[in-house]
Formats: sequence, structure tokens, C-alpha cells
Amino acid sequence: MEVGFIGLGRMGAGMAANLLKAGHHVTVYNRTRAKAEALVADGAKVAADVSDACRGDAVFTMLANDEAVENVTLTAGGILDRLAPGAIHISSSTISVGLSERLARAHADAAQRFIAAPVFGRPEVARAGNLFVVVAGVPEAVEAVAPLLDAIGQKTFVVAATPKAANLVKLSGNFLIASVIEALGEAMTLVNKGGVDKRQYLDILTSTLFDAPVYKTYGALIAEEKFEPAGFAAPLGQKDIRLVLAAGEDLRVPLPLASLLRDRFLTLLARGGEELDWSAIGGLAAKDAGMTTK
Ligand SMILES: NC(=O)c1ccc[n+]([C@@H]2O[C@H](COP(=O)([O-])OP(=O)(O)OC[C@H]3O[C@@H](n4cnc5c(N)ncnc54)[C@H](OP(=O)(O)O)[C@@H]3O)[C@@H](O)[C@H]2O)c1
Repeated sequence: MEVGFIGLGRMGAGMAANLLKAGHHVTVYNRTRAKAEALVADGAKVAADVSDACRGDAVFTMLANDEAVENVTLTAGGILDRLAPGAIHISSSTISVGLSERLARAHADAAQRFIAAPVFGRPEVARAGNLFVVVAGVPEAVEAVAPLLDAIGQKTFVVAATPKAANLVKLSGNFLIASVIEALGEAMTLVNKGGVDKRQYLDILTSTLFDAPVYKTYGALIAEEKFEPAGFAAPLGQKDIRLVLAAGEDLRVPLPLASLLRDRFLTLLARGGEELDWSAIGGLAAKDAGMTTK
């Protein structure tokens, strides 16, 4: 397929490379042009601007946050202005339920199609083409882009015909991951201060009742205090908890744990954690207990 790809950060670069590997013709755009040029060796065409990346059957956005997606989509010369009738905007960024709803409406008004396709998996998973893709949108549009989603992920879950449902699932998933990170940080600090080795403790957890990727991946990062370089940056994690709380407010669903996580992220950022991985909230409990070396 002829496809545009906008946003070549930690996640987008690997996703675009896998679209190329699968044989699609990909025109890439990134605000910082050097990241687009890095994909030329893989066969990408570099777009001069956003509109240049909107000439194909579909265009992906994999951008940091709501503000970036709004900038690229809704301003003059953006995706909404330039995408052909019937062409599909595939939004893979983790954005708010509210923005997803607005984009769906705006694209429908312009006779274009919009699907939400947020992903689970960190940058190394994106590079390997092994993401889990959660999709929502009208079935014909979802079917039309299935080959693209197959190229970036190991499995696609179609959850609803209304795009915002996929964003809600993605946000709820990140809420769960952040909850696990916080709980692991607290439990590890407790046993470690009591004299038990953190790595041995993690081995016991992941060999028994907690044999899941989320415990293995984040448990190792917390045990090693390996919060740099960031795979998923702390400010983006904070953004996700903010969006979870906003969705809870809209739906009148109290989320006391999410409120706690919000404060944990604020603590991390206030203490200079802007550049760290979001798993660094899992290091706060050790600091609070006077345990950490870093
Ligand atoms: N990292 C993960 O593990 C992970 C996993 C699943 C989902 N996500 C989600 O995927 C999205 C991308 O994450 P990432 O880790 O790839 O982030 P990232 O490395 O920080 O990349 C962000 C991208 O957004 C662009 N951008 C930021 N603000 C912009 C603006 N105002 N206008 C135009 N472009 C702008 C950046 O361009 P520049 O290069 O010019 O800065 C870059 O291409 C986020 O929504 C994140 O929550 C991340």
C-alpha cells in the first residue's frame, strides 16, 4: 500500500521500518527531519511536510501527545486538509478519548476515515514488529488497513466500531502497568530493606505467581535501577495517567489508584526525572525508605 508515516520517535521509527520491510511504499515525516532521513536506507521516501505524507491510501500518526496530534492533523495544511476522500488516518499515539472522538468526527465530516490503533510494547518490541495492536473503527476501514497492522504487530485486537474505545483500552492498560510498577517498587523495597536480594526476590515472583512479561520487564528495570535511557519517557507516562483520570471523570468512575499514581509521577518529575523511563516511579519507594544508591 501507499502509506504515510508521521512521527518517527522511539516507537514510530521501528514501526515505519517494519512497514517498509513488509513491502509497503512509505513516505515518512518527522518534525526533526534527521529522524526521517535515517529511514531512507530502508527504502523510505522523505516528505517535505505533513501534507506530502498524506498522498497515499493511509497515513499513520505516532506522536507524543494530544497537542502534537492536533498540530499535525487539525491545523492548516495538516492531515485533515490534505488526506483524499476515503483515505484512512491510523492514529497509533496514546491520546485522550476526547481527542479521538473529535478526530473521528472531523474526518467523517471530510469524507475521510479514522481508526484508532494504539499499541502495547516498548521500542524494542516495535523494532521487532511484535507490538500488540488494539484497533477500533468502522469494520471496512479496519479491514482495509489489516496488512499494515500485521506489519507492525504480532496480533491485532479489534474492539469496537467507535475509535475512542481502543484509546480507552490502551489507557486502562497503561494504568495497570503503572500500578504494577508502583507495587513492585514498594514490595522490592520492603524485602530489600529486610535483607533479601532484589534479583532473587524477582526470580521467586516471576517463577511462581507473577510469570508475566510486565513483571519480568519492569521488575528487572526496578531491581537494576536501570531507568536510563528511557524506552518510555516519564513525562509520557504522566500524560497517560492524566488521560486515564480524565476518562474516569467523564464516565464518573473513581480511580483512587490512578490519583495516587498521578502524585508519584509528579514527585518523579519534580525531583528531576524528566529524562528517565517511566519505570523510575518504581524507584521512589526505595528513595523514600532511604535505600537507594542513585
Ligand atoms: N515508548 C513506548 O514504550 C510507547 C509504547 C506504546 C505507546 N507509546 C505512545 O506512542 C507515542 C509515541 O511515543 P514515543 O515513545 O515514540 O515518543 P518519542 O520518542 O518522544 O517521540 C515523539 C514523537 O512525536 C513528535 N512530536 C512531539 N511533539 C510534536 C509536535 N508538537 N509536533 C510534531 N511532532 C511532535 C516527535 O518529533 P521530534 O522527533 O521532532 O521530537 C517524535 O516524532 C506516545 O503517544 C506514547 O504514549 C509509547
